[in-house]
Order: sequence, then C-alpha cells, then structure tokens
Amino acid sequence: MNSFLLFRAEDLWGQSCVSRILDTSVVPFSRTDLLNSPESETVFDSKLQILKFDPRCVSANASTLRLLEIWADDGAECGQVSSVGSIGEARNLLSQHEEPAQIWRAIPRGRIRRGALLEEQLRRKKWKLPLGWASAANLQIKQSWQKYACGGFIWLDSDQLLWATRFREIAPEGQWCFIEDRKNPPSRAYLKLWEWSWRSAFQPLAGERVLDLGASPGGWTWVLLEAGCRVVTLDRSSLDELDPRVRSRIESAHQGDAFDLTSWPIGPWDWVTCDVIASPQRSLQLIEALRQRDQRFVITVKFKGVPETEDLRLLSRQLDDRRVTARRLWHNKHEITVWMDRP
Ligand SMILES: C[S@@+](CC[C@H](N)C(=O)[O-])C[C@H]1O[C@@H](n2cnc3c(N)ncnc32)[C@H](O)[C@@H]1O
Repeated sequence: MNSFLLFRAEDLWGQSCVSRILDTSVVPFSRTDLLNSPESETVFDSKLQILKFDPRCVSANASTLRLLEIWADDGAECGQVSSVGSIGEARNLLSQHEEPAQIWRAIPRGRIRRGALLEEQLRRKKWKLPLGWASAANLQIKQSWQKYACGGFIWLDSDQLLWATRFREIAPEGQWCFIEDRKNPPSRAYLKLWEWSWRSAFQPLAGERVLDLGASPGGWTWVLLEAGCRVVTLDRSSLDELDPRVRSRIESAHQGDAFDLTSWPIGPWDWVTCDVIASPQRSLQLIEALRQRDQRFVITVKFKGVPETEDLRLLSRQLDDRRVTARRLWHNKHEITVWMDRP
C-alpha cells in the first residue's frame, strides 16, 4: 500500500518549491521512475507530478512530508497501482473495493480520455461544487460531504491504474473553481478567502470581530462582512484605497504597519486575517507572534522566488504546532495560506 501526493502540473514555481524541499530535506527522497520502483521506495514522477511513497519510509521524515503537503494539490493515503487490461476490468476492480457512499473521480493526469470513460461507467452522483462563502447554510453541505468517500484514479499507462478510495480533497486535484461574483467584491482576492472557508475546519462566524491587515481595496473585508463579521481594517496605504462600498460597512479603518503589533487598534480579535505583500520572513514572523499569543489567524505568505531553506525550516517548526495548517490554495499563485483555527 502506498501514499501519494499530486502536484500542480505545468507549474514552474510549484515544481521548483517541491525540488527545493526534496533537495534540502534531512533524509533525501530518491527520484526514480514511478512504475519501476520497488514498493518500499519513495519516488517522484516529474512527468505526472506524482510523489509516491511508503508511509513507513517517511515516518522518520515527517517534517519534509508536511512541507510537501503544502504544495500538493491533492493526495491519498492508501493508494494502489493495479494492472488492468480494460476499462471493464478496472470498473469491476474499483466496484469491489468501494466504501459506502463512494464517489469516483477521474484525476485528469496520464491517459485522460481513458479516465473519463471509466468515470462515466462508475458515476452514480454528479459532483457539484459550492458557489461561495461557507455560510451557515453551506456549512451543512460541508458537513454532509463527510459521509462521502471521494475516491479517484489515474491511468498511468494503458494498463496501469493508480487508484484510492479516499482522496484528501473533495474538489478533484484541489481545483476549487467557484462561480465568481464579478459585481460586488472590490478585488478578486476574495476568491482566496472563499476557498479557505471550504478547506479549513473552522471559519469566522457572524458576530465575530476580525482585524483585516493589508485590507485595501477590500476583497477579503467584503467576504468577512458578507459572513456577518464585525471588521476593523489596517493598511499601510491611504484610507481612500479602501473601496467605499466596504468602508461604509466596517467598524473602523486604520492606516499603519501590519507588522508593528504595538500600533494595532485595540482588540481582542476573534480572528486576524492578513493578505499583506511582504517578504516571507516578515509574514512568518507575524505567524510566530500570533501563534504564541494563541490568536486565530489566516495569513498569506508570498514568495518572490523559491522559498529559502531558512524559511522552510521555520515553517516546518510552526507546523509542529498541530493547530497550524498551511496549504497552497488553488487560488494562490506564488504564495501559500497559513492558518491557525483553534486558539
Ligand atoms: C494584495 S493587497 C491586499 C488585497 C486585499 N486583501 C483584498 O482582498 O482586496 C496588499 C495590501 O497590503 C498593503 N500593505 C503592504 N505592506 C503593508 C504593511 N507593512 N502594513 C500594512 N499594509 C501593507 C498594501 O497597501 C495593499 O493594500
């Protein structure tokens, strides 16, 4: 039995980050051909962007794996590679291993057309993604998903099927494609917070008080307001940069430096959100400060190039705190989202 992670295909930045993590990891992973590898080895197939590993091999290297999981779009813990001669044979194999309330998705890698044909034969339920913020009503949808086993498969070759009954992400390959609201949000950054609200266990709720750092022009603020939160904004730029449509709805707006905690407006805060453009070092230091204060937060960490080894080390230490999660969301380009949702 293997575990595997899927990384974004044709994505130079993501690939460089994964290479940096693999190269700088304490216990190096070997990179050989996925199909020819012995079961016990950890291998990275750069064409399909799949890392396959035996969980027993990486237990000593859990921190490397946690870092890789940030950049992985999807993955599964118990995967198998099976030799199957035809689509009918594959259908029979997967049907035999179904969990209750099974949904099968063809992951669009490898032999994509063959995958679509197999999915067609296995389909029982049409999979629909949500439209926006995980509101109270949508939270019920989120909870109801938990009863489904979201399996998936990839034809690595015409007779080699990689499959698992449970994948990490409900959206295939972590591709959270929402129907966009092109009228109301002041910026498209709102999509990041929408996606986070579906992928995190918790989220800001109506009535909670939130400090939104680097808020202008107000995409995140708009999402928080729509969720019924009481929002205070802080941005280095002039207050005029904040869209008047959100300005009129917030508690107060402040001009200042997000990284100078002594200059923040008076709390307490149920959540601190931060989408400031800054060096990764500064954002990671802010994460450290908030973590030590048991302050719930959602912060994007933006990178100019490949993360420095020192940044990866700090991030890895922060992830040792089980309250902290980091993911490169589908709507994150050269950045990752880090959050702590339990005080
Ligand atoms: C990517 S934009 C934020 C977009 C916003 N979250 C939205 O949803 O519309 C980054 C913001 O960070 C602000 N900023 C940059 N450095 C800052 C600092 N040190 N303190 C506070 N704000 C800062 C910029 O003025 C800019 O408004």
